Amino acid sequence: MLNARDAMPEGGTLRLESRQMEIGGSAAQGLSDLESGRYVELRVADSGLGMDRDTLDQVFEPFFTTKEEGRGVGLGLAMVHGTIRRTGGFVEASSTPGQGSTFRLLLPLSEDRSRSAGRLSASELHS
Ligand SMILES: Nc1ncnc2c1ncn2[C@@H]1O[C@H](COP(=O)(O)OP(=O)(O)OP(=O)(O)O)[C@@H](O)[C@H]1O
Ligand SMILES: [Mg+2]
Repeated sequence: MLNARDAMPEGGTLRLESRQMEIGGSAAQGLSDLESGRYVELRVADSGLGMDRDTLDQVFEPFFTTKEEGRGVGLGLAMVHGTIRRTGGFVEASSTPGQGSTFRLLLPLSEDRSRSAGRLSASELHS
């Protein structure tokens, strides 16, 4: 979000979309290392400056920044990437210079985990 703000010094549109999706079999193509199951897909799209191929290729690398000293350290997206990969999710960036950038995130939905969290708080109530 802060990146989108930086990328739109003259203002613009920030669009957020979310939906649930099922990954399995052929849908996992191109997302080869994702387990099949249900995911929440988030898209964050801005109408800002966009990124060239070179920037796009490095966007998730730690300490990669195009911002002047004191403005960015290049850790924002590296942290997003690391956190999402650890949860078993996926993140990708696409962009056309001059036309904005889109970040697509897939986060696994864990029904089992929310059920066990529910049980935990119920048993805590009784102890
Ligand atoms: N929405 C965007 N539009 C255009 N360029 C972007 C966008 N998001 C990221 N970038 C590019 O990717 C680089 C890395 O982004 P990242 O968020 O990791 O670091 P940063 O914003 O430079 O610094 P930090 O987030 O640590 O303050 C940015 O410097 C910028 O060049
Ligand atoms: Mg940033």
